[in-house]
Amino acid sequence: MCGIVGYVGSRECLDIIFEGLAKLEYRGYDSTGLAVVGKDSKIYIEKSEGKLSKLRPLLKNLPQIASVGLGHTRWATHGAATTANAHPHVADKLAIVHNGIIENFRELKAECEAKGAQFKSQTDTEVILHVLIDLYKNNRDMKKTLLSLREKLHGAYSLGILVEDEPSTIYFVKEGSPLVLGYGEGENFFASDALAVVEHTRKVVFLKDGEMGRMTPTSIELWDEEGTSLEREPLTLDLSSFHIGKSGYKHFMLKEIHEQPAVMAKTIQRLVDVDKGTFNEAALGLDAIDVTKIKAIHIVGCGTAYLAGVIGKYILEPIVKVPVQVELASEFRYRDPWLNEGTLVIPITQSGETADTLASLKHAMEKGCQSLAICNVHFATIPRTAHGTLYMEAGPEIGVASTKAFTSQVLCLYILAHALAAKLKHDIPVSSVMEALKALPPQVEHGIGLGPVVEKISQTYYEVQNCIYIGRAANSSIALEGALKLKEISYIHAEGYAGGELKHGPIALIDQHMPVIALCPKDRHYDKMMSNIEEVRAREGKIFGIGALGDLKFQSICQDFIGLPQSSDEFLQSIINVIPLQLFAYHVACKRGTDVDQPRNLAKSVTVE
Ligand code: M6R
Repeated sequence: MCGIVGYVGSRECLDIIFEGLAKLEYRGYDSTGLAVVGKDSKIYIEKSEGKLSKLRPLLKNLPQIASVGLGHTRWATHGAATTANAHPHVADKLAIVHNGIIENFRELKAECEAKGAQFKSQTDTEVILHVLIDLYKNNRDMKKTLLSLREKLHGAYSLGILVEDEPSTIYFVKEGSPLVLGYGEGENFFASDALAVVEHTRKVVFLKDGEMGRMTPTSIELWDEEGTSLEREPLTLDLSSFHIGKSGYKHFMLKEIHEQPAVMAKTIQRLVDVDKGTFNEAALGLDAIDVTKIKAIHIVGCGTAYLAGVIGKYILEPIVKVPVQVELASEFRYRDPWLNEGTLVIPITQSGETADTLASLKHAMEKGCQSLAICNVHFATIPRTAHGTLYMEAGPEIGVASTKAFTSQVLCLYILAHALAAKLKHDIPVSSVMEALKALPPQVEHGIGLGPVVEKISQTYYEVQNCIYIGRAANSSIALEGALKLKEISYIHAEGYAGGELKHGPIALIDQHMPVIALCPKDRHYDKMMSNIEEVRAREGKIFGIGALGDLKFQSICQDFIGLPQSSDEFLQSIINVIPLQLFAYHVACKRGTDVDQPRNLAKSVTVE
C-alpha cells in the first residue's frame, strides 16, 4: 500500500528519497510524488500517475540543491490513480503525505469548504491538509496543531508534513498505519517501512499509535498524544533480513518459489531438533504463553495467510485436542466472537502490518485472550503487539503473490501443533513426525524441479477464461490457494472448492471448456476424490491432475498430470502439492504478459481495511 519516505540532513535528497520509494515499490502503488524544500525555503513538488519511472524525468524540475523532502507512492483509496490525487498535497506553505484512510473525511471536507477551502483532488489526504491549514492559522504552532488535528481525525493515518516556516524540519504523526524513524549522523529519516532507510542507518524507532514529533538534521523530538515528550531507545536492525535482489531470476516470485526448500530446511532446523525429537519452545513463541490455559484456539488472517490458517485448523484440532476456529480477520473483528482468557488467538501474517489482522489481534487481547503471532517481518506491528511471536524467518518476500510465506506458515502451524501437544503431554508420534519433517525439503525441491513440465502444461491453459480447483481436507485449502494465485497474477477467473462441494452447485459450470485442476494425493481421501473427478469427467470437464508420482490410475484419466513425491503426513503433503500450482500461476501469468511481481490493483502490505 502507500509508501512514505522522508529525509532531513545535509545531503542532496532527491535521489535518497526516490531510491527509498523504489525500495517500497513492492508494496503496490499506482501514482507517485516528491516534495522538497528549496534553498529559498519554498516547497516544490512533482507528481505523476503510474510507476516511479514516470516520476523520474520530472525530478529535474525540482531544486537539485535540497536537503529536506518527502516522497510518496500512493495506492488509490479515495479517488482514481491520477496525478491530481497523487501525494504530496500542497497549499498555504504546507505539504503533506499520508498513508491510511480518514473515515470522517466527508464531514471534515464540508467544514473546510464552508470556510472557503478549495480542493484540487478527491482524496481524504487533501482534507487533512486543509484541516491542518485551518488549525495552524489559528495557533501558528505545529505541535499544538498536530495535537488538535488528532482530535479531529477518525481513521488510520501516518503523516509526513513540511512547513515553509520551518524549512529544516519535518513533522510526522502515526495512528494505525506503520511509520519508522531512522537515526543518522547529521541526518534523519522516516518511512513506512524500514526497508526504505536501512541502506542509510540501522538505528530505528518504530512509532506507536498516538505518537508524533518533529525531526531536523540533528534532532528527533517525540511526543505522545497529550504532547508529553517521550524518550525511545533506537533498535539496531539486522541487515541480513533486508537483503533483497532477484539473484538472477526473472521475477521475485520465481526466486521466492525456488527458495522454499531452503526455507523449509531452515525453519525445521530452528524450531525442531529432529534427532532428539524436541521442540524449540522459545523460537516457537511458547515461552510467552501459558498453554495450560488454552481451551480454544482462534486463527485469524487475510488472503493467503487465512488459507494457511484453514490448514492450521485441520492440523491443530486433532493434535492439540481443543476446538479450533479460523476466520477472515475482516469478519472476526466485527463479529463479536466468544472470547476469554481460555482462548489463544493466532494471527497469521507475512507482513505483520495487515490492518484487519492487527485489529482482530487487539480486539482479542482486549477480551483477555492470550496471543501468539505467526509473522515473517521482524519488529512489525503485529509481533510487537502479540504476547508471543513465532517468526517464520522465510526472508523478505517481495512478490505480491505470497509463495514461500504460505508454505512457511503451514509448516510453522504443523510444528506448533506438535509442540503444543508435547507441552500438554498429549501422545504424539514423535519419531514419524520427525521423519516426515526430515523428508520435506527434498520433496519440495523435487516439486520445484518439475518447473519445465509445468511451464509446458501452462501453454495449454494460458488463454482460458475460467478455471476450477478442487481438493479435499487440507487440499481443499490448497485448491483455494491455487485459485487465488492464478487470479492474482494472471487475472484469470479461478475458484477453489472442496471436492465434496462440487455437486452442491459448482458442477453446473462444468463442460468441455472448463479446466479443473484436481488435487488427489494418495491419502485417506483418495477414493472420494477420484469419485469427484469422475463426476467432472462425466460432464466433459478437462482434468489437470496433481497426484502421486507413479499413480497411473489417476494419470490415465487426466489430460495433464503432475506426479509428486508423497509425504508420510497428509498435512505436509499439502505443502508439496501447492508447489506446482504456484509454478502454474507463474508461467500462465508470464505467457499472458502480466506484471507478475506487482499485479494490478494489489498491494503487498494491506495497511488499510
Ligand atoms: O501480510 P499478510 O500475510 O497479513 O497479508 C495477507 C494477504 O494480504 C496476503 O496473503 C495476500 O492475500 C497475498 N497477495 C496472497 O498472495
